[in-house]
Amino acid sequence: MRFALADLSIQIGHIRFNNPVFVASGTFGYGTENKELVDVSKLGAIVTKSITLNPREGNPPPRLVETPSGMINSIGLANIGVDKYISDMLPVYEGIGTPIIMNIAGSSMDEYISVLEKIESVSSAIVGYEINISCPNVKEGGMQFGIDCSMTESLTSALRKRTEKLLIMKLSPNVTDISSIATSAENGGADAVSAINTVVGMSIDHKTAKSNIYTTFGGLSGPAIKPIGLACVHKVFHSITIPIIGIGGIVNTGDVVEYILAGAKAVQVGTANFRDPGICVKILNNLDLYINKHNITLNNLIGSVKQYD
Ligand SMILES: Cc1cc2nc3c(=O)[nH]c(=O)nc-3n(C[C@H](O)[C@H](O)[C@H](O)COP(=O)(O)O)c2cc1C
Repeated sequence: MRFALADLSIQIGHIRFNNPVFVASGTFGYGTENKELVDVSKLGAIVTKSITLNPREGNPPPRLVETPSGMINSIGLANIGVDKYISDMLPVYEGIGTPIIMNIAGSSMDEYISVLEKIESVSSAIVGYEINISCPNVKEGGMQFGIDCSMTESLTSALRKRTEKLLIMKLSPNVTDISSIATSAENGGADAVSAINTVVGMSIDHKTAKSNIYTTFGGLSGPAIKPIGLACVHKVFHSITIPIIGIGGIVNTGDVVEYILAGAKAVQVGTANFRDPGICVKILNNLDLYINKHNITLNNLIGSVKQYD
């Protein structure tokens, strides 16, 4: 039996996305590398890897290691820097057919502001910014913002004053109380929050007694962190009114539905793209079938996880 295509579109801030399945920062390059392998126009949105003011080589290797049900990375925000991003990447986005969300990282308030102002000063197809205040892999990273409520609020409102594009603050799970950081982002004027970035992890080779990661600690991602992501999304859902984009360990449509039941309006798929760059398109096809079969709307599912009495 064939169903009509379900309406998977969602609204975040003033932007309407065709569907709620985005690719996560750092796992899909600048957004154009996979276009021979995937019909990127099918994706809800592409979130770029983090862009900083100056180019960065990132951390020395080894900076990736597989772990049970996941991987640890310590890439250290390797990227071409905002000026080259503007000259080389922005023109490519014209006509890509997918909303591009630029992820920005910085080590100071001024750095975040400078990157955003440079993009705002040119015309581009970028629909919004995701602000990485949660990278665990750099010495002086945005992480200091993501663990502090007043810094989160000041940074959010400083950026809010400078853009009308979508503003999404990306939260860290490596905090005591993620709800209070989310509340600060909302108070600062964010349109949405995304959660979660990677979880601090470590991997040791017992045969050599060496760390498997140059920087000793890295960020754990993949199915291993899905329960943490779900819990963070559900906690945040009870404390803010702006949309939540759920991230962490998504590999199939069931995972997407679970994040929506926990409170997410959209999701991002990260590590799973390395195994199969076409995974999001498969997830979307099955999401369409799921919505039709159960005769539900995505909006009605948000946060509707059933609790025990
Ligand atoms: C190799 C790698 C690089 C990443 N780089 C970034 C980055 O540049 N900026 C960022 O905000 N998040 C980055 N992330 C975090 C992901 O966007 C995502 O939040 C995290 O991996 C959890 O989702 P997943 O379990 O689906 O991978 C990176 C993750 C991986 C695995």
